[in-house]
Amino acid sequence: MPPKPIPRHEGHWLWGGTFDFQRNPAEFLLEAHEKYGDVFVTRVLTGQSYFIRDPEVINAINVTHAKHIRKPKVVKQMWKPFLGNGLVPNDGESWRRQHKLIMPGFHKRRVDAYAPTMAEYTRDMVRGWVEGEQRDFRKEMVALTLRVVAKTLFDTDLAHDSKTVHDAMEHIVEALIDHAQTPIPVPRWWPSKRNRRMVKALDAMDGVIARLIAARRRDMRDRGDLMSHMVFATDEEGGMSDKQLRDELMTLIFAGHETTAHTLTWAWYLMATNLDKVAKAQQEIDQALDGEPIVVEDLTKLPYLEKCVKESLRRMPAVWIYGREAGEDLRLGGYFFPKGSILAISPLATGRNAKYFDDPEGFRPERWTREFERALPRGAYVPFAAGPRVCLGKQFAMMEMRIILGTLLQNVEINILDGFVPDMLPEISLNPGERGMPMKVRFREGAPVRLGTESSSVRAA
Ligand code: HEM
Repeated sequence: MPPKPIPRHEGHWLWGGTFDFQRNPAEFLLEAHEKYGDVFVTRVLTGQSYFIRDPEVINAINVTHAKHIRKPKVVKQMWKPFLGNGLVPNDGESWRRQHKLIMPGFHKRRVDAYAPTMAEYTRDMVRGWVEGEQRDFRKEMVALTLRVVAKTLFDTDLAHDSKTVHDAMEHIVEALIDHAQTPIPVPRWWPSKRNRRMVKALDAMDGVIARLIAARRRDMRDRGDLMSHMVFATDEEGGMSDKQLRDELMTLIFAGHETTAHTLTWAWYLMATNLDKVAKAQQEIDQALDGEPIVVEDLTKLPYLEKCVKESLRRMPAVWIYGREAGEDLRLGGYFFPKGSILAISPLATGRNAKYFDDPEGFRPERWTREFERALPRGAYVPFAAGPRVCLGKQFAMMEMRIILGTLLQNVEINILDGFVPDMLPEISLNPGERGMPMKVRFREGAPVRLGTESSSVRAA
C-alpha cells in the first residue's frame, strides 16, 4: 500500500514554516492541526519537521519503534552547556547505562518516603501567608517545588543557595528560550549580555552542585535520598564520574521543579475559573482527611483530586512539545517518515483533539473514569511521554502535585484576581509569563494550618 499522504504547510518561500512556528508555536500548532489534520509537515530552517497528534503514530514513536528513534541533534545542542550528557538529552548506550543506574532511585518505596516532606513544606508555605494579601501563585509554586526537589533528591534545604539557584535557573532558561526562539541563534561564544549572564549563571549552578557532590563523596552515608543512590550506584564499569553526576543532578533539578510548578499553576487557574470543581474536591478532601495532614496512603481516597490533576495536564501540559528524530526511514501508522526528519509530538495538541476529548476547551475532571481511560487509544494522552523515554519522575510528580494541591484545597480558597486573564507562553515549559498568576490569600474557615490542630506534622501511616 502506498503511504498515506501528509499535508504540507508551505509557509515562506525561503524560511518554510520557521517563522510561523517560532512566532507563536502553541497557536500555530493548534491551528495547523485543525487545518491539516493529525499529521502535517513543514520546513523549519533546512530540515523537515513532522508535527504529529495521531495516537497510533505517537505510540509507535514512543513505544513500539522507540529503538529506531533518537533525540534530535538540535535538542542535544540546545541542552549541552546546561544539562551536558544528563538523562534528558542523552541517547544510545550511554543513556541506557545511566537510566539503569538512576532508575532504582525512583522506586515507589523511595518516592513514597518523600511524601511527608512534600506535605510539610506545603504547610510551611501556607503558614507564611497572611489573610487578604496578594501573591503570585506561580512564584510560590516554583519556590516550593525547588525546595522539595532539593530536600528529597539531595537532602539539602538549599537555604543558603536558594537565591543563587533561582537566579541562575532564570538566566539559563532565558538564554535557552532565546536560543530556541531565534531562527538563527546567537552562538554561545558571542559575548552578548545574555550569553555572559548565562555563563555566569552556569558557573553559579556548577559551584552549588560541585559542593553537593564533594560533601557527599566525603561522607559516604546512605541518607535515603536520590543523590545517595547515585553516588553509590555502580555497574560493571564502576560508578558515575563527577562530570556525569553533575549532569544528572542538573537535569533532575531542572526537570523536577518547573514542570510540576507550572502544572500546579495551571491547575490552580483552571480550578479558580471552575469553582463547582473546587467545591467537589474540597468536599472529598474534608471527608477523607478530617482536618489531618495528607499522608501518602490518603491518596487512594482522593480520586477526584487525581482527576483534577489529569485534566489540568490535558488542558495545559507543562511539557507542551517534545522532539524525536527518525534514526532510519520509518513507516508508522501508514505514514512515511524519512531518516533524519524531526518528529514533534505535542501533548498540548493531543490533549485538545476533539476526536478523543469531548468539549476539549472545557475543564471536566469527571471525564477521567476508568472506562474512559481504558477506551482512550494509546498515544492520545502523553503529558509524560511513554515507552523507554517516559518521564522518570512521573510517579514523583503525580504524588507531589496531589499532595500540594490537596493541602491547598484543605486550607485556602482557590482564586485568581478578578478579571485576570493569564498569558500562555509556550517556552521550555508552558507558563503564564512575567505577569504570573496573581491571587488573594483567603483561608478557609477552620483551616487546619491556622488552627494548629494537626496532631503532628508527619502523621503515622
Ligand atoms: C508535571 C510534571 C512533569 C511533566 C509534565 C514531565 C514531563 C516529561 C516529559 C514529557 C518527558 C520526556 C521529554 C523528552 O523525551 O523530550 C520527561 C522526561 C524526564 N523527566 Fe519529567 N515531567 C515532570 C516532572 C518530573 C519530575 C518531578 C522529575 C524528577 C524528579 C522528572 C524527571 C525527568 C527525567 C529525568 C526525564 C528524562 C527521562 C529519560 O529520557 O530517560 N520529571 N518528563
